[in-house]
Amino acid sequence: MKINDKYDPGHYRASDTRYDKMQYRRCGKSGLLLPMLSVGLWHNFGHTDNLENGRSILRISFDHGITHFDLANNYGPPYGAAEESFGRLFRQDWKPYRDELILSTKAGWDMWPGPYGTLGSRKYLIASLDQSLRRMGVDYVDIFYHHRPDPDTPLEETMAALDHIVRQGKALYVGISQYQPAEADRATEILRSLGTPLLIHQPRYSMFDRWVEGGLLDVLEKQGVGAIAFSPLEQGILTDKYLKGLPEDSRMVKDGRYLTKDKLTPELLEKVRNLNEIAKQRGQSLAQMAVAWLLKDPRITTVLVGASSPKQMLDNIGCLDNLEFSPAELNEIAKWI
Ligand SMILES: NC(=O)c1ccc[n+]([C@@H]2O[C@H](COP(=O)([O-])OP(=O)(O)OC[C@H]3O[C@@H](n4cnc5c(N)ncnc54)[C@H](OP(=O)(O)O)[C@@H]3O)[C@@H](O)[C@H]2O)c1
Repeated sequence: MKINDKYDPGHYRASDTRYDKMQYRRCGKSGLLLPMLSVGLWHNFGHTDNLENGRSILRISFDHGITHFDLANNYGPPYGAAEESFGRLFRQDWKPYRDELILSTKAGWDMWPGPYGTLGSRKYLIASLDQSLRRMGVDYVDIFYHHRPDPDTPLEETMAALDHIVRQGKALYVGISQYQPAEADRATEILRSLGTPLLIHQPRYSMFDRWVEGGLLDVLEKQGVGAIAFSPLEQGILTDKYLKGLPEDSRMVKDGRYLTKDKLTPELLEKVRNLNEIAKQRGQSLAQMAVAWLLKDPRITTVLVGASSPKQMLDNIGCLDNLEFSPAELNEIAKWI
């Protein structure tokens, strides 16, 4: 693709080759194309993290055609910090590139005290997005998600809030996350009846967590909704990093809120070791194979990785060099997942 940069990019000038290698998939039956890899800011963009490292991760991503950055109101720590960090980087680096970016944020988990700062009421969703826009320093996000189902708020109310947000111009598209197949199906129908199609569903999906194969992907395909798989590397377990012990700078050691040491059982490590050998035979890292394995299903629009360094991000992007699996490789992988 030829790039025609007419604006002054300030001190960051994105690579002129950024669209040369990345492949883009249509998100469901929408008009939106998403890169096969997207980058998430759940970790590594909090107030305790190094902002320059975060800047480098985003720059290397965008320089390789990763146009989609995923946030949520409560990413940090503390809550809101990732959006604030992104806001700072956006002002310095990304403003000239706004129209090349797909920014997303979410609300649904606990964000502020009291009954209006969590779950799925119209009150919470609309107020939370207003806060997110202020923290990020943007007029609108491209995708706004309801972050998790709310068992008590009528789905009609939550979906009407998403529709309202699009009509306000504060989001271009809407998504849902962590919804089960039947809820996702109903949410899609409600949104369609309101005139705002559901763009995308964000479920957890990896070689070690395949719940979406039990019906969700079928619903999304039937409804023409895209899918973005989160925690594709099982927060780092589906890489070679824990094969030789517990690295000091790993999420498991450094953070431990969502990834605890008791997860690393000998049985799990045995699986990882075998998968790592298969990846080596394919001439790629285990992280690359774990991402490629998800992308073999065309219903997966994009795989949403996290990275704690630009080097990791580059490694993940390298998955694009080998996305094909032979039947023998798939059979071998199936023994360990
Ligand atoms: N919708 C939801 O409910 C929800 C929930 C969770 C996440 N998400 C989204 O999904 C995104 C990704 O989630 P995640 O961070 O759990 O994804 P992940 O890709 O499974 O894990 C990312 C972690 O794996 C390690 N890693 C990444 N690439 C590596 C490589 N090439 N080699 C070795 N280690 C590597 C790093 O851990 P170290 O820090 O140990 O280096 C990195 O922080 C989030 O940022 C967020 O946007 C959404």
